[in-house]
Amino acid sequence: HLSVQERIDRKRNAALIGGGQKRIDAQHKRGKLTARERVELLLDKDSFVEYDMFVEHRCSDFGMEEDHNKFAGDSVVTGQGRINGRLVYVFSQDFTVFGGSLSGAHAQKICKIMDQAMMVGAPVIGLNDSGGARTQEGVESLAGYADIFLRNVMASGVVPQISLIMGPCAGGAVYSPALTDFTFMVKDTSYLFITGPDVVKSVTNEDVTQEELGGAKTHTAVSGVAHRAFENDIDALLNLRNFFNFLPLSNQDPAPVTECHDPSDRLVPGLDTIVPFETTKAYDMLDIIQGIVDEREFFEIMPNYAKNIVVGFARMNGRTVGIVGNQPKVASGCLDINSSVKGARFVRFCGAFNIPILTFVDVPGFLPGTSQEYGGIIRHGAKLLFAFAEATIITRKAYGGAYDVMSSKHLRGDVNYAWPSAEVAVMGAKGAVQIIFRGKSNQAEQEAEYVEKFANPFPAAVRGFVDDIIVPSTTRKRICRDLEVLASKKQTNPWKKYANIPL
Ligand code: COA
Repeated sequence: HLSVQERIDRKRNAALIGGGQKRIDAQHKRGKLTARERVELLLDKDSFVEYDMFVEHRCSDFGMEEDHNKFAGDSVVTGQGRINGRLVYVFSQDFTVFGGSLSGAHAQKICKIMDQAMMVGAPVIGLNDSGGARTQEGVESLAGYADIFLRNVMASGVVPQISLIMGPCAGGAVYSPALTDFTFMVKDTSYLFITGPDVVKSVTNEDVTQEELGGAKTHTAVSGVAHRAFENDIDALLNLRNFFNFLPLSNQDPAPVTECHDPSDRLVPGLDTIVPFETTKAYDMLDIIQGIVDEREFFEIMPNYAKNIVVGFARMNGRTVGIVGNQPKVASGCLDINSSVKGARFVRFCGAFNIPILTFVDVPGFLPGTSQEYGGIIRHGAKLLFAFAEATIITRKAYGGAYDVMSSKHLRGDVNYAWPSAEVAVMGAKGAVQIIFRGKSNQAEQEAEYVEKFANPFPAAVRGFVDDIIVPSTTRKRICRDLEVLASKKQTNPWKKYANIPL
């Protein structure tokens, strides 16, 4: 007979090796780390506090009740720990136990940490590596998914939720990551899809590989389902640690302020000449962003999707800011369906967690055409209008409805600046003259008049729609000062159950 202590030790040791050495080796052979190795890398050394190592599945069908089919902790490792000293809750699915599939017990473990994370106000990180619903359990497993979805919805806007896909994630399993704020993937070893290649073949007769259907490239460049992809498990987990440092713990917690060695009054001389004199010539908005933020450090979100808009996190004098910028290098920085949705989702995250948004505007308008209109650009463009923003800099063009959308004064931008190269108008001079003086002679002269009147920052400045026209090289200095003042901003909105955002 074993003593209780011996039984405890035995179970703990069993939990530590999950599905056993053979399966751990197989996991490694695929270039993947185990669930526990991942948690170790993600969290500060020795900070992990594990829950539920003794939980086992409760299925008694198909021989599942037999001892060799029971695994201490079942197919997920859960608990809490620290990233750079800050609290986070984590679950890490263990592919070595029934392919990381989700049993009722597995779901319960995840729900437990989500409930506690909400209660204390700390983010949840999910490391996903799972064959989906535990086939032997049926509805018990499906109920488990729904329990998690409900918590994802309840936690949305309360604590940040991040998913890192590190293996398969298919069927109903995809909807938990989809409900979280950020979904990251590991290149070559992770995939997300509703139905796999075999089902696709039988329903639509398409031949497609797992990678083509739901790999990292597909979701970061084509579907926009994932926000970033990383080279391998280690790269992904280290990037996740870095990313976490930008985020507040909850909607009640201010974003962390880190020590800043980059002087807040640093001038950025390169910016005075960065906007080409010719208004149709492109430049790279990333150069402006990197020039202005602390230490040039910019964590870009969705860098390969809807590249005509740039979004991501950076710091100004140590404070986290969300950055949104039109990208003149891609489609002249036009707003279209995909860039509107990308921008809107990002801005909503920042708004929910009180992260100030710094917007760089150079936008010739919304992209015209039937494919955009039929696709519902009106509906999707309106999503961006839900944005609320703090600081805005018009570097060059701010035309038409797109001017309003990009965090204008009218939508409660707190500080709005124009560079001398800014032009705020309904449209470019050529188009405008064709409308105003249709068919009349002297187009060139009238164009020159329109340019003289509108292709400069004055019309906006005389009306107070921009607060000042600033020397570009002083932008960092000005914004750092403004953000400091705005840190105590309070704003109330009319009571409502929730707004009906155009979806
Ligand atoms: N339920 C129960 N066990 C599962 C499972 C599930 N959903 N998914 C995988 N497993 C088990 C496998 O039976 C296998 O066990 P074994 O080694 O004892 O035979 C083990 O996990 C590893 O899976 P395997 O299929 O060998 O790994 P793979 O890397 O070749 O394939 C998947 C991974 C996910 C593609 C494949 O397991 C799969 O298609 N699973 C079912 C997916 C599904 O339809 N889920 C329901 C959707 S909600």
